[in-house]
Formats: sequence, structure tokens, C-alpha cells
Amino acid sequence: MEENINLDWSNLPFGYIKTDYNVRCTYKDGAWGEVEVTDSEYINIHMAATCLHYGQEIFEGLKAFKGKDGKIRIFRLEENAKRIQRSANGIKMAPLPVEKFREMVEKVVKLNERFIPPYGSGSSLYIRPLEIGMTAQVGVKPAVDYLFIIFVTPVGPYFKEGFKPTKVAIYREFDRAAPCGTGRWKVGGNYAASLTAGELAHKGGYSAVLYLDPKEKKYIDECGPANFFAIKGNKYITPKSNSILPSITNMSLQQIAKDMGLEVECRPMLLEELAEVDEAAECGTAAVAAPISEVDDIDEKKTYVISKDGNPGPVTTKLYNHLRAIQLGDEPDTHGWVTVLD
Ligand code: PLP
Ligand code: COI
Repeated sequence: MEENINLDWSNLPFGYIKTDYNVRCTYKDGAWGEVEVTDSEYINIHMAATCLHYGQEIFEGLKAFKGKDGKIRIFRLEENAKRIQRSANGIKMAPLPVEKFREMVEKVVKLNERFIPPYGSGSSLYIRPLEIGMTAQVGVKPAVDYLFIIFVTPVGPYFKEGFKPTKVAIYREFDRAAPCGTGRWKVGGNYAASLTAGELAHKGGYSAVLYLDPKEKKYIDECGPANFFAIKGNKYITPKSNSILPSITNMSLQQIAKDMGLEVECRPMLLEELAEVDEAAECGTAAVAAPISEVDDIDEKKTYVISKDGNPGPVTTKLYNHLRAIQLGDEPDTHGWVTVLD
């Protein structure tokens, strides 16, 4: 048994902290092998591997929590398993079976139990699955060998402001994905495509970029690392688009909103509609639900002020609290979203 570790659990950054083990599985000769456990943080890759040249890399992000009862809870593991299968199929990689994904996640979380932040700290264990094409080749075609890895790291809030509203910016000369491209999958290249605008945003004091639809630049798409939703009266409105990642947090918040008696609209959302909304937020595994105070359309020199008093809106706060309570086991898991490990 490893000794307990002492981290400043309530003040963790959203960063990488070395843990004890990671788990791996290789795809060779048309089949996935056995799950392997290692304490090495490194991988040995051929310099001609497809992941290095042609972007055959996909990943996921999910979280594990320690409850008041001491139990470990993993949020919506199966949805993440299914989404990384869609990402794999999207860029012609080998999809990992859901059961193998489950085995790997449960194993890596249990092996690193001492890194799961304690209940009440506000932090969680971030689980990062990734898959890469390993075949050495120079022709542009899919690899035949793949490596799937899952590592974990304890994290605090993604935005250093926590649950305080932040500003987001629109930079019209940048897109993170093409209209019928890879935006709907969790492909590493989408994030490379978001770095220039992301840096501009951070330098300008914004928490993230808000992307418009890449075809017409009329509709709201999503933020760099999270989906977008707005509250207008009794409605939860969230963009429907082929170039955004279907967020599991957003899917969950839509259900919670319905449970709370809100009407949910998932439809193309015009940017101008922001002038009329009561609340807006970014939502994702890392971001949870991060309220937006203001949207600045930089090139058009137009500002949409959303939070006039600088505080999170009441509906976003309720949604956030309810989601967190389910994740931590403080509220019953009525939709079967949580995997409880003993
Ligand atoms: N959109 C993008 C581009 C993301 O990177 C993420 C993060 O995973 C999300 C949305 C939110 O998705 P989820 O709620 O499944 O984490
Ligand atoms: C997540 O929310 O899990 C993400 O992947 C977003 C970001 C860290 C890339």
C-alpha cells in the first residue's frame, strides 16, 4: 500500500501532476490486446508513426470524484467510451470496445486512488484517455497499429476564476473546425487549430474564444474547450451544429434543465440572440458550467453584456449545483450516469 500523499487539494491548478500508474492497450493484427499497467510516463514511438505526421490522435476527458461516503464515482463513463469510438471511426482509427474502455478506466482510477481529491475540496481526478496511430509509413492512409493509453491527474477548476463569470471573445479570422470537418470528433488537430485564437483571447483577458459557425459566421458554435448554452426566461438554448463536439456535460445539463421544468431548445442560435438572453455559460467536463459575463465580437467591435452585476445567474447556478451534487453522490443518480467503485 502506497502512503497517502499531501497535495493542496483545494488549490489545485488544471495541470499535470504525476500519478503512480497509467494503463495501455495495443491494437495489432486486427485485435486489441490485454490491458497493461505501467509506471512509465513515456512512450516509444517510431518517428514515421501516423500520429506524428498525419494527426491520427484522438482523446477524451472524464472525471472521478470522492463522495462523502468515501466511494469513488466516475461520471458518464459509457458516453465517453462511445464518443471516442465515434472519433476513432471519424478519422479511420481502430475503435476500442466499450467494455475494454470501462476496464481500463476502472483500473487506472483504482490504481491511483490516493490521487483522488477528497470530498469537499472542489477538485477531482481528471481521466485522460487517448489513442494514437503507431504504424510507420509515409503514405497518407490510416495506420494498422494503435496504442490506447489512459492516465489520470488530480485537477482543480479549468478556469482560474472558478464559478465567477468571465468574458469570451470572437475572432472572425479563425475557425477551429471546417463545416463538415472534424469538429464533431475529439481530434487533437482541432485543438492545434484553436491555439492562435486561444492565445489572443488569453492575452486580451478572455477565458476562451467563442467560435461562430465556420460556414456563415452567423450562428454560435462553441467555445475552444467547451460547449455554449444560454438561458432566456424558462428556456435552455444550446447551439445545434455539425462542427461542434457533442458535449456530455451539455447533454447532462439539458436533462437536468428538463427535470427542473425548463424548456430545452437545441437549434442553430444566431449571434444576435445574445442581446436578449438572461444568462450564458461554457460547459464541459473540465469547465463544468462556467458563467459568461460578456461576449466581445472583436472584429465587429460589438459587445454583448450578459451578466450586468458580474455574478453568476440563478439558473446557471442551480444547474451547476445540481450537476456537481450528482457527480459527488450528494443527490440521487436518477438517470444512471454514475459508475460507483467500492
Ligand atoms: N467542446 C469542446 C471543443 C471540448 O473540448 C469539450 C471538452 O471535452 C467540450 C465541448 C465539452 O464536452 P464534455 O462535456 O463531454 O467534456
Ligand atoms: C474536457 O473538458 O475534458 C476537455 O477535454 C477540454 C480541454 C481540457 C481540452
